[in-house]
Formats: sequence, C-alpha cells, structure tokens
Amino acid sequence: MTIEVAVSEAVVGDDPSFVRRLAPEELERASRREDSGAFLTARALQRTTIGQVLGVEPSDLVFERRCTTCGSTRHGKPRIGGHPEWSFSLSYTHSMAVLALARAPEVGIDVEHLDDAGFPAFDELTLAEDERPALTGLDGQEQLAARAVVWARKEAILKATGHGLVVDPSSIVVTAPDAEPALVDWRAAETAPAAVRLLDVPLADARHRAAVAVLSDDDVTLTRLGDVLR
Ligand SMILES: CC(C)(COP(=O)(O)OP(=O)(O)OC[C@H]1O[C@@H](n2cnc3c(N)ncnc32)[C@H](O)[C@@H]1OP(=O)(O)O)[C@@H](O)C(=O)NCCC(=O)NCCS
Repeated sequence: MTIEVAVSEAVVGDDPSFVRRLAPEELERASRREDSGAFLTARALQRTTIGQVLGVEPSDLVFERRCTTCGSTRHGKPRIGGHPEWSFSLSYTHSMAVLALARAPEVGIDVEHLDDAGFPAFDELTLAEDERPALTGLDGQEQLAARAVVWARKEAILKATGHGLVVDPSSIVVTAPDAEPALVDWRAAETAPAAVRLLDVPLADARHRAAVAVLSDDDVTLTRLGDVLR
C-alpha cells in the first residue's frame, strides 16, 4: 500500500479572509501572541487545507488535542474531531507555514528557517555525537542549510509521535543531510515508533527546509496542493 500525504504551504500574510476562517478561540489566542500574523496564516492554512480535502467548511472543523506525555486534552498533538482516520501536522516560522494531511497512521511535518539554525549550541543540543562529523567543516549558508535539514527531519518524527521536544532531539539519530532521509536510531527512553518513513519536502523558498514523517513502513508519496489560501 502507498500512503499519500497532501502537503500545502503558505507565505505569512495579513489577508482579512484568514480571520474569517478561524474560530473565536483561535483569534483570541492570536491576539496574545507576538507572532500573530504567522499563527493566523498557519491556522487559516490548517482549516482551509483540511476543509478542502475532507469537503467540510473550514470554519466548521473542530480540533482536539491530547498530550502524549501527560494525557491532557489542553495541549499536545492536534487531531480532527469526528475524523479519527485522518492525521495532520502543522508547522510555521515567522514567514511561512506548511501542513501535511494523510488518511494514515500518524504524520508529522516540520519547517525550519535557515537563520534559526545559526545558534552556537546547535550541535550540542540537536545532534548525537555520531551525527556531528557529517556537519563538520561546513560553514556559512551550507552549514545553516545542513542543520535545518537535520533539525526538520528530527522534529517531523517527534511531531508524528506526538512527543515533540519532550524527547531530546540529540537522542534520535537521522541520516546525514545529503543522504536519503531516514531514522537511523532511537536512543530516547520514550517508546520508539514501530516504523518511520521520512521524506524531505522540496520548497520554493531557499531560506527554509522541511521534512515529513509517517509512522508506517508503507511507501509514502507527497502530493502538493496548489495555492490553498488564494
Ligand atoms: C511540537 C513542538 C516541537 C512544536 O514546536 P515549534 O517548532 O515551536 O512549532 P511548529 O511550528 O513546528 O509546530 C507548531 C504546531 O505543532 C503542533 N503541535 C503542538 N504540540 C504537538 C505535539 N506534542 N505533537 C505534534 N504536534 C504538536 C500544533 O499544531 C502546533 O500549532 P499551533 O501553534 O497552531 O497549535 C513543541 O510545541 C513541543 O515540543 N511540544 C511538546 C511540549 C510537551 O508536550 N510538553 C509536555 C507537557 S506535559
């Protein structure tokens, strides 16, 4: 069987139609955030993409959450209320948002801006010892791009499992940035997923890198949806 993952993306903007697609609690949450434009764009992308694929009015969608770590329903990986067979994942930076949606086991997506990978402790916080040689000797944009690839791959896996950064990213090992994406080793105390498919997501924006993870050993194809927020 092949799992089809639909991927949509949007540039952060302030189109007034975004606001009309959101629920009151999302607008209230946006008003409290410094990155309200990014949050509004991301949630508009979430509602519009899922609404389009499932044939539901975006504003009618209800989202539920459940934390993998503590079981709370106030935070954690979101799901689509009334559609348990679907899994989705959202990620955004200050300038773009991406969404992955699949009728499948759990899916996770992550997008990273190259500039956010420039902090000095990156290797220490993100990489296992045996991952470091593949990123040694790179500098400038090449180093930022390699870091963003590895970071996006790891976070996509941890968003698929629902652990997020409760799992130390340096305790999961992925392939080198220029190699086929795959999970190599799971060294965290938390239970490892039984299977993971990992794919890089090509983006038009050269300043970002993104990856998708699906908790399955079936083949996975990515289907790009057009300009969903037009
Ligand atoms: C998941 C996580 C890594 C994403 O952080 P980030 O890189 O800043 O953000 P991204 O833009 O990539 O993703 C944000 C989206 O991830 C999703 N998300 C949140 N928590 C998630 C989780 N545990 N698993 C999967 N997806 C999650 C939401 O859709 C969120 O969008 P929202 O802000 O509109 O609600 C981070 O929020 C995290 O580590 N959460 C877990 C915290 C936790 O569980 N603590 C223990 C509590 S007991």
